[in-house]
Amino acid sequence: MAEARSLLIDRLGQVASPAGAGAPLRGEALGAVDVIEDAAIAIVDGRVAAVGQRDQVLAVHGELPVHDAGGRAAIPGLVDCHTHAAFGGDRVGEFDLRARGAGYEEIAAAGGGIAASVRATRAAATDGTLPELLAGNLDQMRRAGTTTAEVKSGYGLDHDTELAMLDAIRLDHPIETAATFLGAHAVPPEWADGDAYLEFVIGDVLPEAANRCEAADVFLERGAFSAAQAERYLRAASEHGLALRMHADQFSEAGGVELAIALGARSIDHLEQTGDAGVAALAASSVAGVLLPACMVTLDLPRPPARALVDGGAIVALATDLNPGSAYCHSLPLVVSLATMLLGMSPAEALGACTVNAAWVLGRSDRLGRIAPGYDADVVLLDATDWRHLAYHLGGEDVHAVFKRGVLL
Ligand code: NIG
Ligand code: FE
Repeated sequence: MAEARSLLIDRLGQVASPAGAGAPLRGEALGAVDVIEDAAIAIVDGRVAAVGQRDQVLAVHGELPVHDAGGRAAIPGLVDCHTHAAFGGDRVGEFDLRARGAGYEEIAAAGGGIAASVRATRAAATDGTLPELLAGNLDQMRRAGTTTAEVKSGYGLDHDTELAMLDAIRLDHPIETAATFLGAHAVPPEWADGDAYLEFVIGDVLPEAANRCEAADVFLERGAFSAAQAERYLRAASEHGLALRMHADQFSEAGGVELAIALGARSIDHLEQTGDAGVAALAASSVAGVLLPACMVTLDLPRPPARALVDGGAIVALATDLNPGSAYCHSLPLVVSLATMLLGMSPAEALGACTVNAAWVLGRSDRLGRIAPGYDADVVLLDATDWRHLAYHLGGEDVHAVFKRGVLL
């Protein structure tokens, strides 16, 4: 991560940042954004020292070197709390097959899908190209305004490749990364049996993986892992001190919400199949629902119940799910547009969901997700004078500049 800097971002048309001071944001609080017009941001040693109307900020911090924002709008650096950005190869052939009618689960059952990316990622780990492939994806995310990204393992599914993935994620990248061990993404082809594979993962990989990551994740789904298997894996991960994440309710409801709540997971991600009971349970819990509209669109899945989750008071976050199969998408601004256009979220709710709430999912909401005194100076300048262009401009490339801890990337 870049070294901290001191500067004044001056002549901002707007600074838009989630209102209030707490995290996570639920219900109406998710849709509250503070907008300061004709603003400046003073940054000292990589942290926001002051934000407000420019005459007031300049009166105290007028000696700092100036970056002229030229009337643009600023938003907090975006936080992508669910990606699979470390992978070899691509699956454009499968994409073409799906466009001509093949199903995602059908392709997976025939040896493609996650297994295809496992073959390519093992090869990239062996030939040493995995770190540069990840760096290329992080760079595309940075250009779209992401300053912090969670990245999962899960395309190795053997001892050496899983650890190589986590080591690549933990390198010093221009944007901040948070590593998640997705050892239970699929049962790899050399293991006939999911229980035997989990025995190996928990006994032989998890102890070393746990020193290289912050969280563990599992794919609870038909064709992947059952609720009982997911529970076994996550309980073992919890004993190693890891935060718990879960992919569930993507193709079928199979007890993911109940399990995530029972285990005190940080999040349950996807939720395209979640019904009313699941929504009510999540709303009453401290488990975040991470919605992935780029995956929904790519696979033409049902819409997750975003409106019911927000109105019920659940913790809702948004992420790209960047991966080579179900969501080849680096852009949180595109995800924000999809969330407003297809999931019924307001631009303000979508902003809160990929800043404060995403930072909360990653255990970083004390310093990430807002432009406010004391927070890291992670700031995105938009090529627009109104911050809502973030949602409004579908597929727009409106990110003008990205600062991480005050450093222009
Ligand atoms: O979040 N659902 C499981 N995992 C990924 C897809 C992985 C892949 O297809 O390579 C997801 O959609
Ligand atoms: Fe995913």
